[in-house]
Amino acid sequence: MANKILYKTVDLFGDEQIQLIEKKKTSNKTLFTDYEGFVDKFKVKKTTDDCYTPKEVYKIIIDYVNEKCDLTNKKIILPFYPGGDYESIDYDNNCVVIDNPPFSIITKICKYYIERGIKFFLFCPHLTAFGSDIDATHIIASTDITYENGATIKTAFVSNMFGDIKIIGDAELHKKFKELQKRNKANLPKYKYPEHIITVSKIAYCIERGINVTFDKKDLKHYRCMDAQKKHGKTLFGSGFLASNKAAATLAAATAAANKKDNVIVWELSPRELEIIKKLDNS
Ligand SMILES: C[S@@+](CC[C@H](N)C(=O)[O-])C[C@H]1O[C@@H](n2cnc3c(N)ncnc32)[C@H](O)[C@@H]1O
Repeated sequence: MANKILYKTVDLFGDEQIQLIEKKKTSNKTLFTDYEGFVDKFKVKKTTDDCYTPKEVYKIIIDYVNEKCDLTNKKIILPFYPGGDYESIDYDNNCVVIDNPPFSIITKICKYYIERGIKFFLFCPHLTAFGSDIDATHIIASTDITYENGATIKTAFVSNMFGDIKIIGDAELHKKFKELQKRNKANLPKYKYPEHIITVSKIAYCIERGINVTFDKKDLKHYRCMDAQKKHGKTLFGSGFLASNKAAATLAAATAAANKKDNVIVWELSPRELEIIKKLDNS
């Protein structure tokens, strides 16, 4: 497998195919002749080089390129994968590279494709989008993309498929990504911890509403992960404390006082209603 590499192709409907090919260049370099390669191994990896693209982000881009450049019957190639080698792929006249490449070598990649007349539409960093003088079109949409590793990076695009246009500032594309970010935010799960778990946000909630609160050391145990979270691989974000009944009651009282300041009215059950509930439980 050492000299084999993988890359992907995708069609307009999002159906992916994995391609396995021989690596073209087998290096005869040694430590003495490949000093750059040797030094490379010790470089800290740039996190932007390892940001994987969520499917819905890729779909927006494929649809955008298709709308602007008509991808019907084109072979869409994604060459950039761990252990990949974009220079080993045979790009035919019918193919288009649409992918999120390692940003640290984006200029080198663009030049490689431009020199060979290979069509491309690539993700690139927003802030340095105009950083190199290459014969391509810069597509700026001021998009905050949240990649699979959770990093949100302002992203632009670069392409040689737009003829003489040098810069496209695309408000529609911006809007599409903004809507996606909003949808993703709304779908994030919200965690609610029981009264006996004290997090920094719970303390913040009280003091921001003018309610002081204090806990003794003997009433708290430092806590990183509840048993219920373990099977989901989750932890208490930022850690917290497991509280004694006394400390939990202190927090509940402070939270109730803070709720009042927030004009949150908690309707309590009457003794009569509690009696009805008891009867329901026993029936
Ligand atoms: C930003 S990530 C994107 C991965 C994937 N294309 C995506 O969009 O989810 C860039 C990937 O390119 C890979 N890569 C680095 N140098 C490469 C090269 N010369 N040829 C092909 N891929 C390479 C990295 O290992 C990394 O996995």
